[in-house]
Amino acid sequence: MKILVTGGVGFIGSHTVVELQEKGHDVVIIDNLSNSSEGVLKGIVAITGIVPEFVKLDLRDKADVSAFFETHEIDGVIHFAASKAVGESVDNPLLYYENNISTLIYVLQELEKHQISNFIFSSSCTVYGQADELPITENALVKKAASPYGNTKQVGEEIIKDVCHISKQLNAIALRYFNPIGAHPSAEIGELPLGIPQNLVPYIMQTGIGVREELSVFGGDYPTKDGTCVRDYIHVVDLAKAHVVAMERLLDSENSENFETFNIGTGKGSTVLEVIESFERVTNTVLNYKIVPRRAGDVTAAYADTTKVKSELGWSAQSSLDEAIKSA
Ligand code: WQD
Repeated sequence: MKILVTGGVGFIGSHTVVELQEKGHDVVIIDNLSNSSEGVLKGIVAITGIVPEFVKLDLRDKADVSAFFETHEIDGVIHFAASKAVGESVDNPLLYYENNISTLIYVLQELEKHQISNFIFSSSCTVYGQADELPITENALVKKAASPYGNTKQVGEEIIKDVCHISKQLNAIALRYFNPIGAHPSAEIGELPLGIPQNLVPYIMQTGIGVREELSVFGGDYPTKDGTCVRDYIHVVDLAKAHVVAMERLLDSENSENFETFNIGTGKGSTVLEVIESFERVTNTVLNYKIVPRRAGDVTAAYADTTKVKSELGWSAQSSLDEAIKSA
């Protein structure tokens, strides 16, 4: 089927394009290259041998979005395109509300206009904030977001739910990612954030190869086994595969539920120090780091209850933390 992947040149998007192509889907990518480079397209082709159609377009331009859908027959959309840096969203909320919400609205308007039924939304475990119970299930209370970024994911899900409720044709799935890490085993694509990495694993990698002097561990006094935060680190290829399974569920079945959410994680929590130990184990090196005060907005612990995705989609993460770190 013909699948539009918005943000398909990005970290998770590019890995999903590879998995879609390998399952025989015809992929078209929209990306404005604001947080990735066209070189990623070469990486995709190096892996699959299939050149995806690429349209450089900013989804904030409503007229361009309409023109795209006038000229393309699309069977399903996987919507990654969004800004995703928690700290940046606190400093620049309007950038996040414009880039993450108005673009979602423009895409949904086109789905309605062109009767496109299948929509996968890139959501995040950030919607839960600090969950009251661990592991986190999909019906955990969605608390007030800790950042404008997290709020755009919560509001995004609400918008989609409301549209699905009145729409005759739209079926949507929101995938709530935990912490995506790693790279395709070919190393042709991976996580190459522009500038100073916001996230832990790319910062560890750049410290390990000497691009960064030293990793700062944000907080050593949390109520966890070693005082550092717990997260659910999932291999990006496992995460990409979950998108294909979710899209095929929409394409193949007359879904009774027209809006569903799934937690996509490994179901296992790891502390920051355990991630560092994993890096040191798989690379047989010592990482240069120091423990510094906590980072505002961090929750103590978050890891997924994956019962629902396993039973409904038949999907579960295959890679261990060490395998994901090694791929990174
Ligand atoms: C992980 C842990 C930090 C950097 C965010 C978004 C989430 C998703 C993934 C988009 C935390 C610690 C980090 C560093 C550190 N993004 N850390 N030193 O904050 O769990 O999730 O990215 O969807 O929505 O919220 O990921 O990698 O930034 O942090 O000690 O230099 O590593 O304190 O405990 P996070 P992260």
